[in-house]
Amino acid sequence: MRNDTNPKLGPTMRTRDGILQSLWQQTVADSLKPVKARDAGADDTWDVLIVGGGITGLTTALLLQEAGLTCAIVEAHTVGFGTTGGTTAHINTMLDTPYHTIESNFGTSGAEIVANAARAARDLIARNVSNYQITCDFEYKEGILFAQTEKEAAELEKIYTASLRAGVEVEPTNHIPVPLEFKTAISYHKQAQMHPLNYVYALADRFTSNGGVILEHTRVVGSKRNDDLHQIETTGRPLKSRRIVYATHIPPGLNMLHLRCAPYRSYVLAMQLAEGDYPIDLAYDMQEPYHYFRTHVIADVPYLIIGGEDHKTGHGTPTSAFQTLEAYARAHFQVSSIDYRWSAQYFEPTDGLPYIGKLPGADEDTYVATGFSGNGILFGSFSGLLLADLILGRENPCEKLFSPSRIKPVAGFANFVKENADVAYRFVSDRIGVEQLDALVELAPDTGAVVNYEQEKIALYKSPDGTISALSPVCTHAGCIVSWNDAEKSWDCPCHGGRYDVYGNVLTGPPRKNLQVISLF
Ligand code: FES
Repeated sequence: MRNDTNPKLGPTMRTRDGILQSLWQQTVADSLKPVKARDAGADDTWDVLIVGGGITGLTTALLLQEAGLTCAIVEAHTVGFGTTGGTTAHINTMLDTPYHTIESNFGTSGAEIVANAARAARDLIARNVSNYQITCDFEYKEGILFAQTEKEAAELEKIYTASLRAGVEVEPTNHIPVPLEFKTAISYHKQAQMHPLNYVYALADRFTSNGGVILEHTRVVGSKRNDDLHQIETTGRPLKSRRIVYATHIPPGLNMLHLRCAPYRSYVLAMQLAEGDYPIDLAYDMQEPYHYFRTHVIADVPYLIIGGEDHKTGHGTPTSAFQTLEAYARAHFQVSSIDYRWSAQYFEPTDGLPYIGKLPGADEDTYVATGFSGNGILFGSFSGLLLADLILGRENPCEKLFSPSRIKPVAGFANFVKENADVAYRFVSDRIGVEQLDALVELAPDTGAVVNYEQEKIALYKSPDGTISALSPVCTHAGCIVSWNDAEKSWDCPCHGGRYDVYGNVLTGPPRKNLQVISLF
């Protein structure tokens, strides 16, 4: 099914955190789905409980299992539901944060350590593919970064020399794999690409075959630590574990990391060309926001995948972003069909590096991995390596550099978020008549809007058959007002990236609670 059809909305029908299906979700190997999940016995106590079934959670779980620890994964939806299912799977040691920025924030040795980490993550993916004979189209590629203006060329020179100093394999090139004008370009060696969902589903298969447990459709709603054990409350049965890893893209609840990671959305098109060459390598321009290009062949059909038009979650206009991206693609390529379009979320860390390690302010033996910028496949994989080292008591040169505790505390943070969160519960939830709601705004079918009603705001959605969902638009995380995302048919929070479906169910943390329902008609 193509995603330009209009599947009936509903939380149980979604296979990812948006209504648009990615190329990967439509083509994941049937033999890998659904994941096999052994039922956890009520008395099971795990060495490590991992929250989140994306690439971070699966990689971490498998590494810890290989080291002899017992692990379970608890996933609120299904494996690959979040950004792992919406990535474009560029595996690049080039990184979104330029090496000269890393140098200026963390020194030359810091940039070298980060470059080593990026290589280690790439090599881990390659090793998993080889050791477990994973069919996920993993291929090494060149990664070409090109400048189109004098200003970009000056910036490219800085990126190039800093990359060399960090020990990254890169050299100038006169060729780029896309039909665009350019001034200068550099080529990063031994970058890679793959089908991300075939990869993570294969990791899941290996993990469960070795006795690991994956509990899908199970949300962790809280935990307490007593006698060195985390007692974990879920929407299913209670669980016990010696350690918890939050591999949820951003940790749930209220945490300092929510002030240090800004949520962004990126837009992707997968298309076929009427004529012209498909790029044989990975390519990136230097516009603001930048475009990224690659090719993936599935069942003998080549797809040109172009991404870009990024903006802060809840701040842009998703439908316009798709239109602009499509116009850009058609201006430069002979497009015969656009087969898939989707968007995905990522978190931009304030100082350019991810936060991987012990979760500040949480109970002992609680870990987190977040702030991957646009390098989620790479840093998600590296999180597995680093978290496994931390949990197993092994040294890792990235421990300090990536430590979430490098954040300086902000005075009064706890009170600030508590006060904001309390706002959510003051919302007037009296029943409102459908006539009143209809009079508030003339909504087109399958659209939503936040409207004012008697000094209060209401998030209204009208389904294709005319039924109306009325919700409190007050995000249950820390009280911001959500915005309507017309492309993915979701309510997106502009503050920390929380997202909800049209009925108010949480699609993406950090919120743990659904939006308050006013009425459904
Ligand atoms: Fe934090 Fe909404 S995600 S207030």
